[in-house]
Amino acid sequence: MKPRPTLLVSIAFFVFLSLNSLSTVESDLASERAALITLRDAVGGRSLLWNLSESPCQWMGVFCDQKNSTVVYLKLPGKGFSGHLPVALGNLTSLQTLSLRFNALSGPIPADIGDIISLRNLYLQGNFFSGEIPEFLFKLKNLVRLNLANNNFSGVISPSFNNLTRLDTLYLEGNQLTGSIPDLNLPLGQFNVSLNNLTGPIPQKLSTMPASAFQGTLLCGGPLVSCNGTSNGDSGGGDKLSGVANAGIVIGCVIGFLLIVLILIFLCRRKRERKEAGSKGVEQPREREAEIPGEKAAGRSGNVRAGQTGAVVKIK
Ligand SMILES: *[C@@H]1O[C@H](CO)[C@@H](O)[C@H](O)[C@H]1NC(C)=O
Ligand SMILES: *[C@@H]1O[C@H](CO)[C@@H](O)[C@H](O)[C@H]1NC(C)=O
Ligand SMILES: *[C@@H]1O[C@H](CO)[C@@H](O)[C@H](O)[C@H]1NC(C)=O
Ligand SMILES: *[C@@H]1O[C@H](CO)[C@@H](O)[C@H](O)[C@H]1NC(C)=O
Ligand SMILES: *[C@@H]1O[C@H](CO)[C@@H](O)[C@H](O)[C@H]1NC(C)=O
Ligand SMILES: *[C@@H]1O[C@H](CO)[C@@H](O)[C@H](O)[C@H]1NC(C)=O
Ligand SMILES: *[C@@H]1O[C@H](CO)[C@@H](O)[C@H](O)[C@H]1NC(C)=O
Ligand SMILES: *[C@@H]1O[C@H](CO)[C@@H](O)[C@H](O)[C@H]1NC(C)=O
Repeated sequence: MKPRPTLLVSIAFFVFLSLNSLSTVESDLASERAALITLRDAVGGRSLLWNLSESPCQWMGVFCDQKNSTVVYLKLPGKGFSGHLPVALGNLTSLQTLSLRFNALSGPIPADIGDIISLRNLYLQGNFFSGEIPEFLFKLKNLVRLNLANNNFSGVISPSFNNLTRLDTLYLEGNQLTGSIPDLNLPLGQFNVSLNNLTGPIPQKLSTMPASAFQGTLLCGGPLVSCNGTSNGDSGGGDKLSGVANAGIVIGCVIGFLLIVLILIFLCRRKRERKEAGSKGVEQPREREAEIPGEKAAGRSGNVRAGQTGAVVKIK
C-alpha cells in the first residue's frame, strides 16, 4: 500500500526535474540564439548566411557543446564586421572562446563580456576598439589568452591584471597605452606591449621576455638599455642610437689604428729593403722576382747571397 504513493511522487518529481532541465537548456539556447542574431544585426554580419531555421549550433562560426547544446566557441575572424559590439554576448554563458579578430569593430567593449565567467580565450586584435582596457575584464578569472593588440586602447595597464591568475598570453601591442608596466605576478609565457607610449622601467619578472616585446615604447631596463642612461628624460631609443654610434666610432678607430700600423710596417720594410738593395746597386723588384731560382741555386751552393745576385745577373 505504502510503496505506491512514494513511487508516484518519485516519478512525478523525476518528470518535473527532467522537464525543468530540458526547458532551461532550451531557454539557454533560445537566449543564445537571440544574442547571436543581435550581434549579427549590430555589426553588419549579413554575409554570414546563417540559416535561421536551423539550430544556432549549425551556424558558421558557432560551436556548441554536444551534450548540453550551449555555445562554447564563437569564432568570426575577418568577417568585415564594423560598428560597436552590442550588449548581447553576455547571454553566451558557457562561452570559452570568443574570436572577433581582424574586423573593423570600434567603440568600447560592452560590459556584459565581463559576465562570461567561463571565458578562457578572448581574441579582439586587429580592430578599432578604443577607451581604457575595461576593469570588468579582470573578473574573467579563467582567462588564459587575451589578445587586444592593434586596437586603439588608451589609458594605463591596470595592476588588476594580477586578478587573472591563469593568464598565459597577453598581447597589447599597437595601442595608445601610457604609463608604466605594473608588477605582474602572472605565469605569462607570451607577452607583447610594443608600439605603445609606455614609459619607465620593465618589471623584473618580464625582463626575460625578448626585446621585441617592448620595441617602439619609451621603456627601459630588462632586455632594453639600462634605465641609467645618460639622457634621463630623453627616451631609451635615443640612448640606443647613441650606443650604436659609439660602437661605430670605436670600431672605426680600431680599424684606422690597425691600418696606420700596417702602413708603417710596410713603409719600414720597404725602406730597409731599398737600403739593402741600394747598397748592392740592384733594383728591388727584380731581386724579388729572382728569389725563387736564386734559392734553388743557393740550396746547392749553400750561399743565399751569392745565389741571389747570380740570378739577378742572369735576368739582366
Ligand atoms: C539575452 O537573453 C534574454 C533571455 O534570457 C533575452 O530576453 C535577451 O533578449 C537576450 N539578449 C539579447 C541581446 O539578445
Ligand atoms: C535552412 O534550413 C532548413 C531546415 O534545415 C532547410 O529546409 C532549408 O533549405 C535551409 N535553407 C537554406 C537556404 O539553406
Ligand atoms: C555545458 O557544457 C560546457 C562544456 O562542457 C560547460 O562548460 C557548461 O558549463 C555547460 N553548461 C551548462 C548550462 O550546463
Ligand atoms: C581583483 O581581486 C581583488 C582581490 O581578489 C578584488 O578585491 C578586486 O575587486 C578584483 N578586481 C577586479 C577588477 O575584479
Ligand atoms: C583613437 O583614439 C583617439 C582618442 O583616444 C581618437 O582621437 C582617434 O580618432 C582614434 N583612432 C581610431 C582609428 O579610432
Ligand atoms: C603616443 O605617442 C605618439 C607619438 O609620439 C603621439 O602622436 C600620440 O599622441 C601619443 N598618444 C598618447 C595617448 O599619448
Ligand atoms: C611584438 O609585436 C611587434 C609588433 O607587432 C612585433 O614586431 C614583435 O616581433 C613582437 N614580439 C614578440 C616577442 O611577440
Ligand atoms: C644607476 O646605477 C647605479 C649603479 O650603477 C645605481 O646605484 C643607481 O641606483 C642607478 N640609478 C637609477 C636611477 O637606476
